[in-house]
Amino acid sequence: MAKKITFLGIETSCDETAAAVIRENDKGTADILSNIVSSQIEEHKKFGGVVPELAARAHLENIEYIINTALKESKISIDEMDGVAATAGPGLIVCLTVGLNIGKSIAAFSNKPFIGINHLEGHALSPGLEKKIQFPYLFLLISGGHTQFLIVRGINKYEQLGTTIDDALGEAFDKTAKMLNLGYPGGPHVEKFAKLGDKNFFKLPEPIINKAGCNLSFAGLKTAVLRESKKIKGKDQIKYNLAASFQNTINKILYKKAKVAVKMFKEKTKRENFQFVVAGGVAANKTIRNSLSSLSKEMNFETIYPDIKFCGDNAAMIAWAGIQRFKKNIIDDFTLSVKSRWPLDKDAPYMKGPGLKL
Ligand code: KG4
Ligand code: ZN
Repeated sequence: MAKKITFLGIETSCDETAAAVIRENDKGTADILSNIVSSQIEEHKKFGGVVPELAARAHLENIEYIINTALKESKISIDEMDGVAATAGPGLIVCLTVGLNIGKSIAAFSNKPFIGINHLEGHALSPGLEKKIQFPYLFLLISGGHTQFLIVRGINKYEQLGTTIDDALGEAFDKTAKMLNLGYPGGPHVEKFAKLGDKNFFKLPEPIINKAGCNLSFAGLKTAVLRESKKIKGKDQIKYNLAASFQNTINKILYKKAKVAVKMFKEKTKRENFQFVVAGGVAANKTIRNSLSSLSKEMNFETIYPDIKFCGDNAAMIAWAGIQRFKKNIIDDFTLSVKSRWPLDKDAPYMKGPGLKL
């Protein structure tokens, strides 16, 4: 029987310090031998957002313990690993540096291959931890820093169909939570309080919903939430109505844009049968899952979401991406450095800033 590939994964791109040991199994999915995530919610809560220097310091304080715990729990020693993978970008430079350097050091001292992972590729491949996914598939990445539709043609082969031209979706959730004083981290709190509100109470803008292909925009929606939030003056029910209306508007936008993206995907790949993968932190949102699943029923394709524990940042997806790259012999050397910006499709146009024509 062929030896099963096993990787140590390390993730420190933002505010989660994470390490995991993953082994490929006979089904072509993953055995999760360990998956340790230490969130820095307490550190950043009082500031209402991630403070890069504090995040980097917390990574430095925790990383050794987290890696040791992941190794101990997996019952696999470094010597038995096939390689080490660590997130190399995109993200906060001071944070990425911690994980990348320790990953490189472990690999160098144990004479193992080292692979620097694009965090977005980690999210893109994350459902493969539990389910075999067929290339090409349509991918919607919804996270704190990115909102994109892509065709995933294979490992390291991405074609961007659309992206946000301003805020990322997670950012819009986080800012809404902050404006409504719902708590930190924002996304899960907006989802929780939206359940108590009337989603049709406010009519909010749906920016560029009927133009610009499957590109997206959330800045105008955010400004409208800010305007309405200033009028509330402590009335909790109205606050919940605004959270519910915001989330409902997001669902309308995603539903419409996913429909456009599906059409583009079919035209470009000439495929009728395909999978639609939705991943990244915001993919944990149940109303978004339900809304996109109803589109998949209407248009007859399969929608796949990672388990909730693999939606937010984790190192299992990084180790898994490492295994996939290793199998294709895409190995890095120790000169690799961190990248704050690292698009999956390097030929995609940059869609932000003044003068953007849609
Ligand atoms: O993928 P992720 O953990 O980190 C990045 O790569 O950015 O995504 C974090 C984002 C945050 O903006 C967070 O508020 C959002 O995901 N998020 C949610 C939910 N859970 C996390 N947004 C909406 N609903 C949720 N349940
Ligand atoms: Zn992420």
